[in-house]
Amino acid sequence: MEAQYILAVLGLVWVTRWVVKVALDVVAALRKFLWARLTKDNLAVKYGGKWAVVTGCTHGIGKEYARQLAKRGMNILLIARNYDKLDDIQNLIKKESPEVETETVQVDFSFGRMIYPEIARYLADKDVGILVNNVGVITSHPMHFVEVGEDEAWNHINVNMASMVAMTQLVLPGMVARGRGAIINLASVASSQPVPYLGLYSATKVFVDFFSESLRWELRGSGVTVQTIRPGYVTTNMTQYSKFVSEPSTFVPNPERFVASALPTLGHAGRTTGYWAHGLQMFVTDEMFSREGRMFLFDVWNKLLRKEAIKED
Ligand SMILES: NC(=O)c1ccc[n+]([C@@H]2O[C@H](COP(=O)([O-])OP(=O)(O)OC[C@H]3O[C@@H](n4cnc5c(N)ncnc54)[C@H](OP(=O)(O)O)[C@@H]3O)[C@@H](O)[C@H]2O)c1
Repeated sequence: MEAQYILAVLGLVWVTRWVVKVALDVVAALRKFLWARLTKDNLAVKYGGKWAVVTGCTHGIGKEYARQLAKRGMNILLIARNYDKLDDIQNLIKKESPEVETETVQVDFSFGRMIYPEIARYLADKDVGILVNNVGVITSHPMHFVEVGEDEAWNHINVNMASMVAMTQLVLPGMVARGRGAIINLASVASSQPVPYLGLYSATKVFVDFFSESLRWELRGSGVTVQTIRPGYVTTNMTQYSKFVSEPSTFVPNPERFVASALPTLGHAGRTTGYWAHGLQMFVTDEMFSREGRMFLFDVWNKLLRKEAIKED
C-alpha cells in the first residue's frame, strides 16, 4: 500500500512537471513567434548602430537576413566570396531599399586568419548594430567521414567556426563600449545531438551553439544581445542534395519565410529554432526520443539521403 502511494505521488509529480514544462514552452513559443511579429522595433536605435554585417550573404538564409534587415532600415555590409554575386545582392538591396547604404567585402572565409585585417578595414568607420554570423558549409551530401576531403574538412573549421569567433572579436568591443548591439549566430538543429554521416558539420554547429550561448550569458546586463538560431531544414543551396529537403513545405520553409519568422525573434528569444514548425519538430523529437534514439533516427535518415545523392551523381 505504501509502495502504491509512493508511486502515485511520483507519477503525479512527473505529470505536473511535464504539464508545466509544456505550458511554459507554449507561452515561450507564442511570445517568440506571435508577439515578436507584432512589435517592430527600430533596429538601428535599439542596437545602437546603423550598420548590419552579414557573412555569407549571396544565397539562402544570409541573403534573406541582408534583404530583410535592409527593409528594416539598416545599412548592410555584405561579406561573401564571389564578386558577381555580391554585386547582384547589392543591386537587389539598392532597388528594394533605396534609402539604405550598402558596401561589399569580397573574402573567402576558408582562407582562415589572413582575411580578417581586410574586413577590419571596412569596419573601422562603422557603428555596427547587428552582426549576423551566417556563413556556413556542409558536405555535398551526407557521407562517411572517410569520404570527406582534406580541404572540405578544413573549410568546415574555418568557415563554420573560426569565422564566428573572428567576426565577433572584430565587432564586440565596439558594442560593449556603446552598451548596445546584437550578434546573431546560425547554429542548427544538428547541434542537438551528434549526427551520423554529417558528423563534422554537427560538431561545428555544437561549437557555434556553445560559444554563442556562453557569450549570451556573459553579456547579460551589458546591453549586447546574443542570439543562437538553430534551424531545421530550409530550402537553400545546402539542401539541394535531396528532393525530400529541397522542396518547400510547412516543415521545410524557403529562406524568405524562414527569416521573416526568425528575424522578429531577435530580442525576444536567446536560443531558438527561429521558425514555429522547426520548434514543434524539435519539441516532439526531444520529448519522444533519447539522444541515442535521435542519433539512430539520423543514422537511418542520412543513410537514405546518401544513397539517393550517390544514385543521382
Ligand atoms: N539550409 C539549411 O537547411 C540550414 C539548416 C540549419 C542551419 N543552417 C545554417 O544557416 C547558415 C546559412 O546556410 P544556407 O543554407 O543559407 O547556406 P547556402 O545557401 O549554401 O549559402 C551560404 C552562403 O555562404 C557563402 N559562402 C560559403 N562558403 C563561403 C566562403 N568560404 N567564404 C565566403 N562565403 C562563403 C555562400 O557563397 P556562394 O554563393 O559563393 O556559395 C552563400 O552566400 C549556415 O551557417 C548553415 O549551417 C542552414
